[in-house]
Amino acid sequence: MDGLTRRRFLQALGVSGGAGALLATLAANGGTAVTPPWTPPARAGRAGRSVVVLGGGIAGLTTAYELGKAGHRCTVLEARARPGGRVLTIRGGDRETDLDGHTQRAAFAYGTYFNAGAARIAPWMVTLDYCRELGVPVEVFVNSNADAFIHRSAGGAPVRFRTARADLYGYVSQLLTRVTRQGLLDAELATGGRDELLAFLREFGRLTDTGEYLGGPDRGFAVYPGADGGVPLQGPPSLSEVLTGGAGASLGFDLGFDQAMPMFQPVGGMDRIPAALARAVGEERIRLGAEVVAVTNRPDGVEVRYRQDGRAHAIVADFCVATLPPHLMARIPHNLGDDVSLALAAFRPAAAGKIGLEYASRWWETELGIYGGSTDTDLDLRQVWYPSSGFHSPRGLVVGYYNFGPDAEAYASLAPRDRAARAVSLGERIHGPRFRTELASSFSVSWSRVPHLEGAWATPPYGSPAFALLRSPAGRVLFAGDWLSHTVAWQHGAFVSARAAVTAVHERA
Ligand code: FAD
Ligand code: ALA
Repeated sequence: MDGLTRRRFLQALGVSGGAGALLATLAANGGTAVTPPWTPPARAGRAGRSVVVLGGGIAGLTTAYELGKAGHRCTVLEARARPGGRVLTIRGGDRETDLDGHTQRAAFAYGTYFNAGAARIAPWMVTLDYCRELGVPVEVFVNSNADAFIHRSAGGAPVRFRTARADLYGYVSQLLTRVTRQGLLDAELATGGRDELLAFLREFGRLTDTGEYLGGPDRGFAVYPGADGGVPLQGPPSLSEVLTGGAGASLGFDLGFDQAMPMFQPVGGMDRIPAALARAVGEERIRLGAEVVAVTNRPDGVEVRYRQDGRAHAIVADFCVATLPPHLMARIPHNLGDDVSLALAAFRPAAAGKIGLEYASRWWETELGIYGGSTDTDLDLRQVWYPSSGFHSPRGLVVGYYNFGPDAEAYASLAPRDRAARAVSLGERIHGPRFRTELASSFSVSWSRVPHLEGAWATPPYGSPAFALLRSPAGRVLFAGDWLSHTVAWQHGAFVSARAAVTAVHERA
């Protein structure tokens, strides 16, 4: 991802949920409101206007949902065969054809699903508010798991997160204890805190009275304790071995503002959210397979031309809210001005990919004791996810890779069968032969090759005139989408951006 690690990238994109009407009360109580400020528009009654919404992802559906509640008449034009956009859940029987003409048909068993795009939700995200409002049940998404692995190709066997964490925290605590006792931090601690620091390090690093890290039960066991005392894992290795084993680079992901536990997911698949939104909007207001081909802004309305079932259509409305990915909107002929075209082109699409591997047994639970969470590897798989639901059921779906940037592009250049072959042969290095022998079926999505999306997300030129320009109306056309928010690559960004467009339309109407 342009030289950035995924974690730094996500951290860079993560922003606070802001403050709502609740803020004053909460601030007075020492807290921060998690709900962003937004007052839904009051019902417009007979003054309701017509609005054409381009794109039926989260931003488009939310726009139509909220404007509909306020009494406006919306029509959503969505090019794909189903609503949801990058909220794409694959189930048995689903079929997708990519831009290279590869068609995959999911052979998953009944009940198995694969969230190929959005998969997790932080508690501060508006996404959860919409789940509550729309009656979409949620459950915990296990975003970090002490039993999952850190794997480095040069480092031999994978190491459990709990082991890597104990060793890294232990050695860092030992080093800090040593320099503190040598007086090297006296200047920093001139006004106090030396004893508290040493006490903290002793506890944090599980140090001996003399300040040494010698390992201990928090590293894990070779034979787990029970009726007998158990056999601790051999070790610890040296500090250098711990560092070159990847602990430093892998620990800390779940400290991210947007990745800290607890996280959540809708029961049964992330597409329960767009499905509920689509029902609330009214399916008759959503035209699927409707590809927008031109947008013309006029003093008295907006004309949108689109193709559906091989035929040309046009629709005229009072306003238009365009939620297409910016790099695709940039290609659509319009009369909104060259500055709008240039601004749209300033958003760069990024690559990401996932593969869902369905297994005939849940060997990660029965043999490894891994219940959810993910393994981190320096192989181009980058992350292997274990399912957060369906524990102890007969089958399960592992995300065999979740990668970004050049790694994702490398998989995108392969046919789906070859992606699966590569993922399985690399995954075997971490998980052993059962990664191949238990495999039942697979389905992969390379987001840069998905028709009508052509990217996982678009990196905004924050602070630039382009970003500001597209956040203001272009005549009767307004833009929305996660790409116009400060929470790109999260549904939250799409929701809050749609809310901004809804307010702007309603005020003008
Ligand atoms: P989109 O979903 O891109 O919607 C745009 C819509 O426009 C699409 O439906 C598209 O088909 C349609 N369209 C395009 N061209 C045309 C045309 N010419 N005519 C008509 N329609 C057109 N979010 C989370 O909350 N949690 C996560 O864990 C998470 N993980 C993610 C992982 C991946 C791999 C990806 C790709 C995304 C992830 N996201 C996650 C981000 C989340 O999916 C997006 O932020 C959100 O879905 C964006 O919604 P949107 O409506 O802004 O855009
Ligand atoms: N928000 C996306 C994720 O957490 C990118 O995977």
